[in-house]
Amino acid sequence: MVNIDLVERFVSTIPADDDHPYRTGPWRPQQAEWNADDLPVVSGEIPADLDGVYLRNTENPLHMPIRHYHPFDGDGMIHLVGFRDGKAFYRNRFVRTDGLAAEAATGTSLWAGISESPAWSDRTDGVGARTRLKDSASTDVTLFRGEALASFYQCGDLYRIDPLTGRTLGRADFNGGFPTDIGVSAHPKNDDRTGELLFFNYGKDSPYMHYGVVDAANDLVHYVDVELPGPRLPHDMAYTENYVILNDFPLFWEKEALAAGHHIPRMHRDLPSRFAVLPRRGSADQIRWFEADPTYVLHFVNAFEDGDEIVLDGFFQHDPEPGETTDVDARLRPFRFLALDQLQSRLHRWRLNLKTGQSREESLTDTVSEFGMMNTDFATTDYRYAYAAMGKPGWFLFNGIVRHDLHTGAEERFALPDGVYGSESAVAPKVGGTAEDDAYLITLTTDMNADASYALVFDAARVADGPVCTLALPERISSGTHSTWAPGSQLPNWRDADHPATSMGL
Ligand SMILES: [Fe+2]
Repeated sequence: MVNIDLVERFVSTIPADDDHPYRTGPWRPQQAEWNADDLPVVSGEIPADLDGVYLRNTENPLHMPIRHYHPFDGDGMIHLVGFRDGKAFYRNRFVRTDGLAAEAATGTSLWAGISESPAWSDRTDGVGARTRLKDSASTDVTLFRGEALASFYQCGDLYRIDPLTGRTLGRADFNGGFPTDIGVSAHPKNDDRTGELLFFNYGKDSPYMHYGVVDAANDLVHYVDVELPGPRLPHDMAYTENYVILNDFPLFWEKEALAAGHHIPRMHRDLPSRFAVLPRRGSADQIRWFEADPTYVLHFVNAFEDGDEIVLDGFFQHDPEPGETTDVDARLRPFRFLALDQLQSRLHRWRLNLKTGQSREESLTDTVSEFGMMNTDFATTDYRYAYAAMGKPGWFLFNGIVRHDLHTGAEERFALPDGVYGSESAVAPKVGGTAEDDAYLITLTTDMNADASYALVFDAARVADGPVCTLALPERISSGTHSTWAPGSQLPNWRDADHPATSMGL
């Protein structure tokens, strides 16, 4: 029986007549935290072999900015949908960051956002490669040691989240080894095979980047300098069985402006892209750099070893610095760097030859997509399927899913109806499944037509057929991006008596 509880309602100081394009419509933030057990099935059936939790992070602001809001400034909110025994439960919780608490006390934004000058901050502290940012833990969510870690894109703490309840458990400390001076970037990588967490961080001081490894016992066992020519804006990394791949893309803060305290990203088209390859426990002097065509890559999908080569897949931006166009709403122009169609991000493959030091690369498709996910049971192998989001032109909104078959080049798509927007679609391997596409895809929607939100479950082998199951969430949620799949088998309390699925009688 459906059971929905309003757990807490937060105070928002955003006025009712707000008209910011990324705080209204599908980006309307939420104030409520909900528990919902035995989610209503709107169509289809919850597969019996779907077992685990889908988690999604979301930027969700509660206060007006000091001057200019950017959609990366909102407070972190975790939405989770757990599937067990053919039933599903939902929780959403703000990440209980120090910044959230401090701003709740004053009812104002205390830190300048990413579109604002750090000098405008009320607070002199703060995190981030830029410095003086609020750590919202709002960007990514990753599973590590049976807990979810919420992370912030410009580096900060990793907030530990209970993947069953959404409750904030505290900060990751890596048994005392956490690099508190710089923090950790979004997109740390959990390697299921070794139980390790691989991460990087970056900042404005030499060496500008570090790479680290936390082992399955939560000890920081490796941490090395990655010397860059100056401050850079890396967002993601990749790894193979034996190597990690870090990056130095020519989109970075303009040097002269930075000297004057202005953080203005510029594409330096005369510079190459560079990839650093080093053994996973390698030292700084083992780093090998490879050059490639200039671009910016927000996200990688996978990497694997093929003979002497490292094969690296990610989304090559064919126009990393889109010019202003007059054919979009003028209010959207400052946010054109978020629109996939303007960035022209397309799945791309680099081959980095460890023997010759040369690189090769090729575009894999004409289809514009980003936020690629895969069946991580096949990570670091010559995998076949990448599932990515397609974008609504001009907007930071996802209006469909494309399945790229990397072995044949075939593509299969599912377009969401007009006015319905999805999230990053995590891949949930079927219990007992063996093939790569013996899996489900899960996404959360923001449905402006129904003024509601749904969890959609697709069969990963038949994406174009549409969802096999649609579940109703308690209220329309804000659009959001990064997600992860936490298999029940990796969750320590998954079958315990105090588990939400058990307490609701499932
Ligand atoms: Fe990201």
